[in-house]
Amino acid sequence: MSTAISPTAYNYKVVRQFAIMTVVWGILGMGLGVFIASQLVWPQLNLDLPWTSFGRLRPLHTNLVIFAFGGCALFGTSYYVVQRTCQTRLISDSMAAFTFWGWQAVIVGALITLPMGYTTTKEYAELEWPLAILLAIVWVTYGLVFFGTIVKRKTKHIYVGNWFYGAFIVVTAMLHIVNHISLPVSLFKSYSAYSGATDAMIQWWYGHNAVGFFLTTGFLGMMYYFVPKQAERPIYSYRLSIVHFWALITLYIWAGPHHLHYTALPDWAQSLGMVMSIILLAPSWGGMINGMMTLSGAWHKLRTDPILRFLVVSLAFYGMSTFEGPMMAIKTVNSLSHYTDWTIGHVHAGALGWVAMISIGAVYHMIPRLYGREQMHSVGLINAHFWLATIGTVLYIASMWVNGITQGLMWRAINDDGTLTYSFVEALQASHPGYIVRALGGAFFASGMLLMAYNVFRTVRAANPAQAEEAAKIVVVGAH
Ligand code: HEM
Ligand code: HEM
Repeated sequence: MSTAISPTAYNYKVVRQFAIMTVVWGILGMGLGVFIASQLVWPQLNLDLPWTSFGRLRPLHTNLVIFAFGGCALFGTSYYVVQRTCQTRLISDSMAAFTFWGWQAVIVGALITLPMGYTTTKEYAELEWPLAILLAIVWVTYGLVFFGTIVKRKTKHIYVGNWFYGAFIVVTAMLHIVNHISLPVSLFKSYSAYSGATDAMIQWWYGHNAVGFFLTTGFLGMMYYFVPKQAERPIYSYRLSIVHFWALITLYIWAGPHHLHYTALPDWAQSLGMVMSIILLAPSWGGMINGMMTLSGAWHKLRTDPILRFLVVSLAFYGMSTFEGPMMAIKTVNSLSHYTDWTIGHVHAGALGWVAMISIGAVYHMIPRLYGREQMHSVGLINAHFWLATIGTVLYIASMWVNGITQGLMWRAINDDGTLTYSFVEALQASHPGYIVRALGGAFFASGMLLMAYNVFRTVRAANPAQAEEAAKIVVVGAH
């Protein structure tokens, strides 16, 4: 095996920009999460102003954590992974820069318009048409940069992580464009092209696959690169990863109707969604096991490497939420869980435990490499962050399980004469302690992000431009 330093370099500039913004948006999005969680404990925090009310800040939270924090992590890691596994520079620096600035512009647009009350009212697709169009243009450019880089790769085959990133990019474009087809009536108002049950079906085909492809498939791409890299072991089974890929993308797309159980949606469509969701357990766990087993022979590293701990615990939460999801998709279970905090607990088991933890692990892995440093400024701080994040997640989801099941049971309890045993307010009062615990858990998680910001800042500040430039050189390992 020979090692040669190629004169060309990777485009790390755009990766650095996205990595830093992942941390910045993470703090803002999660800080806002803590704020809205506190509003549910102390309603006075709505401040009697429309733009600080829960109803307007909640979609801002979801947009900031999913698209700003999660999106920047996905852009940054995919640009890093595609270059390194294809051993070539991104196809175009200017297009890559456009995706960075365009994406930030969409987020700033969300920051302004959502608190002002401009919304399509479709969950996770709230941004009004001018921003939605900008987003579509940025996304198509992203696809061109990503796939263009794959086309000009120096390696023979396409690493499996890129398959997952690729599917995430293609399907997200399809979902976004189809769900956003609408008729604008003014600069800030449009009406969906679909109506009634069709509109609901398209929205939850979008919504569920936003979970499936944005919050899952993209992050699985991340998993397939960063877990083996950090563990310094090859992926457990390459064959399983291919089966995992095709099974996951074939099944996910059908599961959307589980968001619409007991609605005007035709019964057969609800049952189809339920069955597909249950089958989805298999590929989800296949992927989780593939990631976990990659640590065979390297488990001892968990004792000393908190970055690996982030990555492995994220897989554990992925396994947990993809077991919980299929259970909640069963109609009888859903009749208890739907509308309750159980759903919120499930969401954050995936969002905090899986999405945020794997992103945090990946950013900690990349930062020293992007800036030509040996390691992060402080491993102790990463460790502290790990515990804050883990305890925070557990507090969040456990309190929401208790709340959810309590609410579900209280709402359905009836007296012998058929009247309701509890009023809605009584169920709300019973939920109050859980809301306090959730806000506390969120505060734990968000304060971990502050430690991360400090650690990243110190690492970046200690690097000099020459080191950073050296780090970006393309090193071709094994010139065969
Ligand atoms: C400090 C961390 C966080 C806190 C305290 C927090 C808090 C909250 C709260 C209070 C809600 C509203 C719940 C309700 O309406 O009853 C919410 C909704 C939501 N959050 Fe978070 N969040 C955090 C992090 C995240 C992250 C990192 C993600 C995604 C990557 C995320 C995704 C969501 C989603 C998708 C919803 C909507 C759930 C639904 O409609 O069922 N959150 N969050
Ligand atoms: C096999 C995998 C999964 C299945 C079958 C599944 C199933 C479900 C079900 C049945 C619901 C409740 C729908 C309702 O009653 O309204 C739900 C909600 C949700 N799940 Fe999952 N889930 C899975 C994995 C995940 C993962 C890994 C994440 C996050 C990263 C996630 C994020 C969400 C979100 C955000 C919602 C709330 C949607 C909303 O109402 O706003 N799910 N899921």
